[in-house]
Amino acid sequence: MAKLSKLLERLRIDDDARLVDPEKAGTDCVISDNPSTGEPLMAVRLDRADDLEKTVQRCTAVQKEWRVLPAPVRGEIVRRIGEAFREAKDDLGELVSLEAGKIRAEGLGEIQECIDIADFSVGLSRQLCGSTMHSERPNHRMYEQWHPLGTIGCITAFNFPAAVWAWNAMLAAVCGNVTLWKPSLMTPLVAVACNKVAARVMKKQELFKPSSGDPRDVFSLIIGADNEVAERMVADRRLPLISATGSCRMGRRVGQVVAGRLGRALLELGGNNAIIVMPDADMKLVERAVLFGAVGTAGQRCTTTRRLIVHESVADRLVERLVKLYGNVTIGDPLEEGTLMGPLVNARGVQDMRAAIERAEQEGCKVLCGGVAGIERMKKKPGHFVEPTIIRVPLGKVPAICCEETFAPILYVFTVKDLDEAMALQNGVDQGLSSAIFTDSVRSAERFLGHAGSDCGIANVNLGTSGAEIGGAFGGEKDTGGGRESGSDSWKQYMRRQTCTINWGNSLPLAQGIKFGED
Ligand code: UN1
Repeated sequence: MAKLSKLLERLRIDDDARLVDPEKAGTDCVISDNPSTGEPLMAVRLDRADDLEKTVQRCTAVQKEWRVLPAPVRGEIVRRIGEAFREAKDDLGELVSLEAGKIRAEGLGEIQECIDIADFSVGLSRQLCGSTMHSERPNHRMYEQWHPLGTIGCITAFNFPAAVWAWNAMLAAVCGNVTLWKPSLMTPLVAVACNKVAARVMKKQELFKPSSGDPRDVFSLIIGADNEVAERMVADRRLPLISATGSCRMGRRVGQVVAGRLGRALLELGGNNAIIVMPDADMKLVERAVLFGAVGTAGQRCTTTRRLIVHESVADRLVERLVKLYGNVTIGDPLEEGTLMGPLVNARGVQDMRAAIERAEQEGCKVLCGGVAGIERMKKKPGHFVEPTIIRVPLGKVPAICCEETFAPILYVFTVKDLDEAMALQNGVDQGLSSAIFTDSVRSAERFLGHAGSDCGIANVNLGTSGAEIGGAFGGEKDTGGGRESGSDSWKQYMRRQTCTINWGNSLPLAQGIKFGED
């Protein structure tokens, strides 16, 4: 506890009005637990529907002025936010570890993603380019330009409690938008801390002084229950884009409601990512990639490797090696040096993992390590620890449980005869986020990347399914929701396109050569 208070002090959120001593917390608060101990860290006061209304009004007002600030000036402000994240990286990373249970390296990695996307957005602030095209009419010019959308509603999940907000908020900001962030109620402290980093920069800077409202509203935060806050945000026409990360079930709801009001939704939903291993793969790389992909973040990334599809000629040997490696994974305090796997985020996560393993066993699969026994062993520790689990799937079968995303470190191993069978399996699930193949064959790699290959938003050769860089567009197909966040041209989703035609001549020729009321 003393450690936490010091950390909150260093992050300068110890006196934040939202934070409440957990012992004094009432029903108007959410308790943030430490998943490594199951003990409360802090209580955070919840916003209600009327707070949301006031916040949306403030966002709308400040965006009217933010949108006319030149984009490179917005970029300069985002640059300073990136700098502030650099300064606070160690402390924010530690808070991610405490609240979400990520090991230190991954907590720091998450804050690095915030810094990277800020840097990316600074460059982008001078490159929000549209095309010019040739008009069919004489003395006419045609071009496209991009305008800000307004206030972006950003709903994030516990597993990337800082980075996914940053992907949205930094891009949105240089594009001239304001972001209204609703974080997961499992990680409100990280949200308060990240929001504070941005707010302090906004308060101090001299480049944007809105005549009405507060510059800090450019990065707004609302911490509330789904039924009270998220549902209202999703239905609110003043939020032209809702960017939401979470389960497919949640995404379906968001997608339908936003479509009902003809708004835009950017959805980043479940994954069921597979690594295909061909006989000519470099097995050392495979082992490391599987370990990071399936065990890293305790299996709680949407890019986590959930299925391993291995050629029959190398399957037994690889499985044997993996079982050995899994046995050496240090599970424990995420902040302790040497720990590779921290806890699941809560007791529900452990229950879901147990239920999935039991179903897999009922469906004829064989648990090779971890499993329900591993969950039982870990019960001796406080907190929500489990053992990473490898499950071998019977030959020729696709058990229904393997087609679902269980947010836990379970790896289902399939054995196949050839690449065709591997591709059919890999694409044979509803989700389409990330995919990978390990092979030294150009033919196999290119087939995997071809039009008849992987149907996922991310396709990697000789690297795993998780840990994407911010420079590429991030997201997936099918039930993963189709959205693209972060790098490449994802910024276009945060802007509206306008096609402009200018007639600088003395006549009014009509397109398609139409004659209308002329002499
Ligand atoms: C997520 O799990 O929601 O590629 C995002 C990765 C990270 C982002 C994951 N850069 O694994």
